[in-house]
Amino acid sequence: MADPLTLDEVEAAAKKSLPSKIYDFYASGADGQRAVARNRHAFSRLFIRPRVLQDVSDVDTSVELFGVRSALPVGIAPSAMQRLAGGDGEIDVAKAAAGMGLNLTLSSQSTSSLEDVMQAKIDTEKGFPGPPFWMQIYLHDDIQKSVPLIRRAEGKYSLPQYRLVKVHYTSILTIFKSTAAGYQALVLTVDTPVLGNRLAERKEAVVLPKGLSLPNLEKTTPGAKPQPSINRQFMNVRSAAEAKALRAASGSKMHSASLTWERTITELRKVTKMKIILKGIMTAEDAALSVQYGADAIIVSNHGGRQLDETCSTIEALPEVSVAVNGALPVIIDGGVRTGADVFKCLALGADFVLVGRPALWGLAYDGCRGVETVMHILERELSRTMALAGVRSVKEISRGMLGVANRNGF
Ligand code: FNR
Repeated sequence: MADPLTLDEVEAAAKKSLPSKIYDFYASGADGQRAVARNRHAFSRLFIRPRVLQDVSDVDTSVELFGVRSALPVGIAPSAMQRLAGGDGEIDVAKAAAGMGLNLTLSSQSTSSLEDVMQAKIDTEKGFPGPPFWMQIYLHDDIQKSVPLIRRAEGKYSLPQYRLVKVHYTSILTIFKSTAAGYQALVLTVDTPVLGNRLAERKEAVVLPKGLSLPNLEKTTPGAKPQPSINRQFMNVRSAAEAKALRAASGSKMHSASLTWERTITELRKVTKMKIILKGIMTAEDAALSVQYGADAIIVSNHGGRQLDETCSTIEALPEVSVAVNGALPVIIDGGVRTGADVFKCLALGADFVLVGRPALWGLAYDGCRGVETVMHILERELSRTMALAGVRSVKEISRGMLGVANRNGF
C-alpha cells in the first residue's frame, strides 16, 4: 500500500487494523461527542489570507520554547495506554519524536515506564539531545502523595545504578547524563476533577490485557487502577453520593476534585523545580489566574472532547486566552489539529506551540515508530507548504491578520 498522504488517511488505515473496541476507545469523546466534532469543524470556519511575492524560497518551521529549539511548532500530546495501539507503544512514539527532534508529553497512565521512555529518547538521540520531553500528571488531593512520581520524572533516580560505578571520567559523563535524563516539565492536567462521561467505555470497558500494566502509577501510587476499570466503577453508579462513597472506599485519588488555584501551583513549587504547565485552560479568566499563580505555560485543551462535552472547541477558546495572557507565558493548544494548515491557524491566533493527540495513536497503529514519523512528516510538509503559499518564511511572521472568519465578511 502506498504511504498515506494525509492524517485522515493514516486514521483510516489505523481504523482498519485496530480492534473496533480499541479504535472507539481512542476516537471517542464524552456524552454526545459534540466537543470532538466541534474541535475539528471550528477550523473550517477560518481561512488564510495569503500574501504573494514574498521570497519564500527558504521556509523555517522551527520554534523556540523554554530556550530550546524544536524543528516544528508541533509536539505529541499525552495519551493513555499506547501499547493498546500496537508495537512498543510509548517507546515507539518516543523514538519517532526523538529521531525527528520533536517534543513529547508522556501520559502518567502510560503502558511503558517513564524511565524506559526516557532511555529510548537518549538511545535514539545518540548524544545529540533534542527538545526535552514533558511528563503529564494528575495530582493527588494530598500533593505529598504525588511526590514519588514527580521525583521519578525529575530523573534523579531514573538511571540504572551500574552507570555510576565506572572509571572516573566515564562516571562524570554518566552523572551529567543522569541529570539531563529528567523530564523538563510537569504537565498538570486540570480539566479532570472527575472523569468525563464516556459512553463507549461505560458500555464496554477497555481492560488492559495480561502482560500490560501502568508502571508509572503502579509503582508509586498504591491502589491505583487502570483508568478504564475506574471508569466502569464510577460511571455506572446511580447517584453522585454513591460515586463519592465509592471514591472514598477505593482510596483512588488519581483524579482529585478538591484542588484549588490557591493550593496547586504554590504547593507544587515547594516540591519541584520542574516547569509547571497547566493543561486544560479554556477561558480568559483561568488564563489570567495561570499567569497570576505563576504557571510556566498553559495548554488550551478540552482533553480531545473527552471531558466537558458542551464546551467550545479549543481554537474558539484560543483568542480570548491569548489576549488574557498577553505574552506573559507560552500558550500551547491541542484538540482537532489534523493538518499543517490547522497548525498555521493556531499560530495565527496566538499559540506558541501545538500538540496532536490521536494522530500519534493512529500512526502507531498504522506502522509503529515509522507510522508516527509518517504522521509528523505529513504535518511538517503541510505546514511548510502552507507557510510558503501564505507568503511567510518563519513562524514568527504568522500573524492574526493572516486569518479571516467565514460568515463575517458578508458571505
Ligand atoms: C487523551 N488525553 C489525555 N490527556 C491527559 O492529560 N492525560 C491522559 O492520560 C490522556 N489520555 C488520553 C487518551 C486518549 C485515548 C486520548 C484520545 C486523549 C487528551 C490528550 O492529551 C489531548 O488533549 C487530546 O488528545 C488532543 O486532541 P486530539 O489531538 O486527539 O484531537
